[in-house]
Amino acid sequence: MRIKTIEEYHQAYQESVKDPETFWAGIAQEFQWKKPWTKVLDWNFEDYQVKWFRNGKLNITENCLDRHAASKPNHPAIIWEPNDPEDEPEIITYKILLDRVCRFANVLKKHGVSKGDRVCIYMPMIPELAVAVLACARIGAIHSVIFGGFSAHSISDRINDSQCELVITTDGSIRGSKHIPMKDTVDDALIACPTVKKVIVATHTRTPVSMIKGRDFWWESEIKKVEAECPAEEMDAEDPLFILYTSGSTGKPKGVVHTCGGYMVYTSYTFENVFQYNPGDVFFCTADVGWITGHSYLVYGPLLSGAISVMFEGVPTYPDAGRLWDIVARHKVNILYTAPTAIRSLMGFGLEYVQDKDLSSLKVLGSVGEPINEEAWYWYHEHIGKGKCPIVDTWWQTETGGIMISPLAGITPTKPSFATLPLPGVQLALVDENGTVIEGNSVSGNLCITFPWPSIIRTTWGDHERCKSTYFSTYPGRYFTGDGCLRDKDGYYRITGRVDDVINVSGHRIGTAEVENAINSHTGVVESAVVGYPHDVKGQGVHAFVILEEDQEANSMMKRDILMTVSRIIGPIAKPDKIQFVKGLPKTRSGKIMRRILRKIAEGEFNSLGDTSTLLDPSVVEEIVEGSKNLD
Ligand code: PRX
Repeated sequence: MRIKTIEEYHQAYQESVKDPETFWAGIAQEFQWKKPWTKVLDWNFEDYQVKWFRNGKLNITENCLDRHAASKPNHPAIIWEPNDPEDEPEIITYKILLDRVCRFANVLKKHGVSKGDRVCIYMPMIPELAVAVLACARIGAIHSVIFGGFSAHSISDRINDSQCELVITTDGSIRGSKHIPMKDTVDDALIACPTVKKVIVATHTRTPVSMIKGRDFWWESEIKKVEAECPAEEMDAEDPLFILYTSGSTGKPKGVVHTCGGYMVYTSYTFENVFQYNPGDVFFCTADVGWITGHSYLVYGPLLSGAISVMFEGVPTYPDAGRLWDIVARHKVNILYTAPTAIRSLMGFGLEYVQDKDLSSLKVLGSVGEPINEEAWYWYHEHIGKGKCPIVDTWWQTETGGIMISPLAGITPTKPSFATLPLPGVQLALVDENGTVIEGNSVSGNLCITFPWPSIIRTTWGDHERCKSTYFSTYPGRYFTGDGCLRDKDGYYRITGRVDDVINVSGHRIGTAEVENAINSHTGVVESAVVGYPHDVKGQGVHAFVILEEDQEANSMMKRDILMTVSRIIGPIAKPDKIQFVKGLPKTRSGKIMRRILRKIAEGEFNSLGDTSTLLDPSVVEEIVEGSKNLD
């Protein structure tokens, strides 16, 4: 399954297109299956459904854990780096990880969780988070990890959407110098969650918590009451493995569903090939397990490949902006996978935090989550990679499950800010507004995928119609990514950003409608419109245009209250960077907000607002332009 040269890449790509079933079957057979599949692929992009490895039976944790625990029990699986650099890191071997997963899986069973049940995980970046994820997979429960920065309101929405019965959390968490009361937030969320029967709480920060009799249980005491062995549940290749919520153009986040077989095959294949992982290499993905990158390339991908995966609890700027480089030196990291926003932020602190660090172990650098601008690319290449480490700019999405367009490290010649070429099995098309395929090179269009790959989204939880209409109806017969893209003269792909109402703030996907709904729920607000604008560090910032009720004062107190409201309803990550009070919004005669105009204003491009004559009241534009010039 390993590609070693550019010729092998081209050959693998051709084979994957000519005969996808044979191609993926060849890769899938390298895993442990309890029963072989009877058919590799059934698919239909018109009336969307995809099934890979039909009737194949497996358990992903046997592939992540048991086979490595048998062949190399004392090999590190996870190296945990705590928030405080003075604290000891923890090295968890494959054998120990398997034991911990089995014990905790038995705790889940004891509390009534069985195959197909949904379990919500709301935890900081500690080993128990990985254990909880894998314990669910062990018994066939469907995990729904919720990023630790989401609010109680967001947690209850997600729990209710998937009807979770059990929640796993910690007393508290600590990121940098900030303490966060996790259990408290879960308690607030659960007021609105009738389906949740049990909560398991791991002790981490000794933050005071209230434990409700019959509902709340301590992780540490529960694991003492169960047996150490837990057989792996037999799962169908198409049984759901997890749900992960992500934002889209509409107000409500979608529960993206991935299944056991295809996700296993694709994450492992892409992990080994993109990063050119060699046995014994130390791999450090800085993403939180609350996002897809953490699922696929901190937990599942690396463990499937028997790799050493570094898990970091803290933030890149604590205790100072040299923390990531200290971790690289301390654990002799060979492959570092991070986001452009982190690179840009660390660039801003200056070279003094990098200069004296021992980065000689690094071989490969990765980038994910948003376009990487050339300045950040060169800084990463020169100052972190010392000019000798290839950079893999990996484009993919929550819905794709794994990396789709990326160089193979050291194999594909790179170009700054280009994700370069599609991986084997990934068939791309650029289409124009009418859905006509744009052929040839030196062109740009909307990025679509024309053929299924093993870890494609299967459905959106509880609402298959939504999955169909979101991804397969804009350009019938094709999966539409929501991204704009150009293909240069050499056939290399460069992602230019979202073409829908999704903004990418520090690599986090935020739906404008979600933020608008949150702002509009403030009593003083009549209406709002939210757009993204270029931001030096975050990639994109959030600009909110807000109309207040007549009796409300447009002052800094009101701004503060609106920020608080967004923080409460979604979480601090969605807080607008700019709030501009306006008297009206640019609307068409049919009442639709012309976001194109607002985007231009937020970008400061006042001379290219386009035609405003079709607006109901063109004069509002002038007022908004003037107001935006005086924003702090
Ligand atoms: O716009 C693209 C951007 O992030 C979106 C997917 O976000 P999410 O589902 O949260 O997954 C992020 C991590 C895989 C995409 O639609 N994006 C992701 N990677 C890149 C990127 N944009 C440009 N270059 C990338 N390498």
